[in-house]
Amino acid sequence: MLSVNEAGAMQKTGKTLIDRGTITELIELRLSRRAALKGLGAAAAMTAFGAAALRAGGTDAAGSLGFAELEKTNDETHHVAAGYDADVLIRWGDPMIPGAPAFDPKAVRAASQEKQFGYNCDFIAYMPLPPGSGASDHGLLCVNHEYTIAPLMFPGFTADAMTEAQVEAELAAHGHSVVEVRKVGDKWRVVADGVHNRRLSMRSTEIGVSGPAAGHDRLKTKADPSGTKVMGLLNCCSGGTTPWGTVLIAEENFHQYFGGHPAETPEAANHARLGIKGEPEYQWAKFFERFDVEKEPNEPNRFGWVVELDPYDPMSRPVKRTALGRFKHEAATCVVNHDGRVVIYSGDDERLECVYRFVSAGRFDPANRAANLTLLDSGTLSVAMFDADGTLSWLDLSHGQGPLTEANGFKSQADVVIEARRAAELAGATKMDRPEDVETNPLSGRVYVILTNNSKRAADQTDAANPRGPNKFGHIIEMIPPGGAGAEADHAADRFTWDIFIKCGDPRNADHGASLHPNVTADGWPASPDNCAFDTAGNIWLATDGAPKAAGFADGLWAAPVAGEARGLTKLFFTTPVGAELCGPCFTPDNQTLFLAVQHPGEAERAMSYESPATRWPDFAEGVPPRPSIVVVTKRGGGVIGAP
Ligand code: FEO
Ligand code: CA
Ligand code: CA
Ligand code: CA
Repeated sequence: MLSVNEAGAMQKTGKTLIDRGTITELIELRLSRRAALKGLGAAAAMTAFGAAALRAGGTDAAGSLGFAELEKTNDETHHVAAGYDADVLIRWGDPMIPGAPAFDPKAVRAASQEKQFGYNCDFIAYMPLPPGSGASDHGLLCVNHEYTIAPLMFPGFTADAMTEAQVEAELAAHGHSVVEVRKVGDKWRVVADGVHNRRLSMRSTEIGVSGPAAGHDRLKTKADPSGTKVMGLLNCCSGGTTPWGTVLIAEENFHQYFGGHPAETPEAANHARLGIKGEPEYQWAKFFERFDVEKEPNEPNRFGWVVELDPYDPMSRPVKRTALGRFKHEAATCVVNHDGRVVIYSGDDERLECVYRFVSAGRFDPANRAANLTLLDSGTLSVAMFDADGTLSWLDLSHGQGPLTEANGFKSQADVVIEARRAAELAGATKMDRPEDVETNPLSGRVYVILTNNSKRAADQTDAANPRGPNKFGHIIEMIPPGGAGAEADHAADRFTWDIFIKCGDPRNADHGASLHPNVTADGWPASPDNCAFDTAGNIWLATDGAPKAAGFADGLWAAPVAGEARGLTKLFFTTPVGAELCGPCFTPDNQTLFLAVQHPGEAERAMSYESPATRWPDFAEGVPPRPSIVVVTKRGGGVIGAP
């Protein structure tokens, strides 16, 4: 069933229907729209969708995508639309710190890995140099390294014989890289001895802790009796950037590293809620006590946060900002509200988990960077409840509110943020279909929530915001703040409206229950959307993770206008080599360069090995395993990516 948001049409008047207290009117309007669409044939409905979308887009900017669509692929290499170059810029193991040895796939060790680009690149931020310059030909790439795949990293690997040295190399390959890049002529180059270059890892980078959980007993360990400094950052997935020039790094699936018997610890219920079962995917607990929850029951409480990093100061100490809550953060998207307060949106990427928002107490001051660096330490955390009538309520997760009291085990805000999931559930948040990236369209002020898929939602568990059970292909929700478009939007309001932007899948296959623009081609429909970015024309660029499983074609990058006649007309721009997901999408300010992260090339459900991988991308050299890498896309002869 198509969903069209009529409230959005009111935005041009500067106020939404909700503002004027006409909820009933809104419900009636939505119901009549849905009833009307039901009576139409699919094609007619799609046309109605297009016309309504033109009104609903919240902006006149219709986007302008002029590239020739790529065909879907599923092979050993990457592909980009005709007329573009997609060059590999930096690979796992490439030297990026002075003194780093050249990559030797037969000798992957912690000491070398800490001076080389890490494994499984995910989030990419491009931070211009000099800071604040807006330069589009010189900057820092700040890249997350989410996880490692031992069978593809070590020759002759067998799980039973995994060594401490291999585990140490894994710790070193996790984390984050800051690496200087520069455009010379029409090609980008890595500056391997850049003064800002930095590798952050699970092995050697101390991270500070701030906000309500800093110093709390539940964060204290033998190695850190203060509960204020953590060795490392873990499962760094996607992220965000702030207008004061810092990078937000989201810690996601931290549960899979912890061994021991969590049920035997004082944190048993908390660990269970986060999926820590003592059946780790990794062997870290075998060699390092801190990953054994029986020996260090609080260690998992020190992960699952958003880490703020100042990449412009290579000596700066990154900080875990606990006010933003602890869960499996996919990303952390920052927008400065019209009144100067800073708003961070973040999804908890697990089936039937929630969408969160943090609103700072203080205000962004462009003239006082030092003050901005503590903005994320105090404010209000809330969680989204999507109503069938098209309203979205942000439920306050402040200690003492509603059920968040001592009677339910919350003694302070520290307990609330440490157990944000439990707090959200008690507050009545909507359980979503795996919220991945959240991104704001700077033109309309609308906020897009990417829901990648959900095999766990039963047919009788659907709701308006998660209308398919199971949800095999994923969908995207628009959260619509009141108060006007763009910079006038009130991202701190208690209530928004919401709508479904697209439902992925093949629109020609009724079983998929997809809804996209009627002109979407057989190559143009995506599956399992994950990360996204907006270009300056207001088009959304969707990177996918899981398309092969869902649909049999490689993951890649699809772009679509979100407003105008072509709203929801997704087009394929880039595809990954077999086994990879696509992450990152990150434009330079002039939109003439697009950085993409190709994560886990060659990863397979089974039979993965260094000796016979599904692909040897990008080197294609005998004996060299696949290497997660950053790809840089430019238009041949120059120009804006995607523009006609
Ligand atoms: Fe790390 Fe939800 O992807
Ligand atoms: Ca992701
Ligand atoms: Ca993003
Ligand atoms: Ca994913």
